[in-house]
Amino acid sequence: MANLNIGIILGSTRVGRNSPQVGEWVKGIAEERGDANYEIVDIADFKLPLFGETDASEQLAAWTGKLAQLDGFVFIVQEYNHSITGALKNALDSARDEWNNKAAGIVSYGSAGGARAAEHLRGILGELQVADVRVHPLLSLFTDFENGSVFKPADLHKANVNAMLDQVLAWSGALKTLRTGTVAPL
Ligand SMILES: Cc1cc2nc3c(=O)[nH]c(=O)nc-3n(C[C@H](O)[C@H](O)[C@H](O)COP(=O)(O)O)c2cc1C
Repeated sequence: MANLNIGIILGSTRVGRNSPQVGEWVKGIAEERGDANYEIVDIADFKLPLFGETDASEQLAAWTGKLAQLDGFVFIVQEYNHSITGALKNALDSARDEWNNKAAGIVSYGSAGGARAAEHLRGILGELQVADVRVHPLLSLFTDFENGSVFKPADLHKANVNAMLDQVLAWSGALKTLRTGTVAPL
């Protein structure tokens, strides 16, 4: 079977954001495994307008085209006002079929590890028919970042990232059989 394609989605878009540091760290751990194709997918690159506000067919086609290439996702989630960012919610809303019958893991950060945002994301993923895995590395703004901005993850998180990726790959591979017609879709 061909390698699975896994997108590491950066959930924040603000100037000065921490998400690229976290995403590159996850990608580095993932690439050491050599078991799938891993790429950073930066929502900011797609310049998505607020869903439905303008025609924006070009941006939407680029976004849904990218998602269609992917078999699974790792969401890099940061907590904004106890939830996910508006940018990530908008990006989730801006596609539908391209999310369906795929798997996802979550790596979150915030003062409480981004736990509240991650739990909100799980509810949204259910509606989009994305199977979110159990293992969920949580990073603390206090102990895994210096001054809340320089990412210095504690060593213990690496094993958790690998365990999360094990689950994402298993479910991404299984769900690919639904999308390719080996098993009848729901
Ligand atoms: C608008 C806003 C709201 C925030 N609300 C929370 C919050 O409710 N809980 C929390 O733990 N951190 C909160 N934070 C802190 C962010 O989690 C922290 O700044 C994090 O680095 C943001 O991710 P980013 O750097 O990738 O944008 C908030 C930050 C911003 C900008």
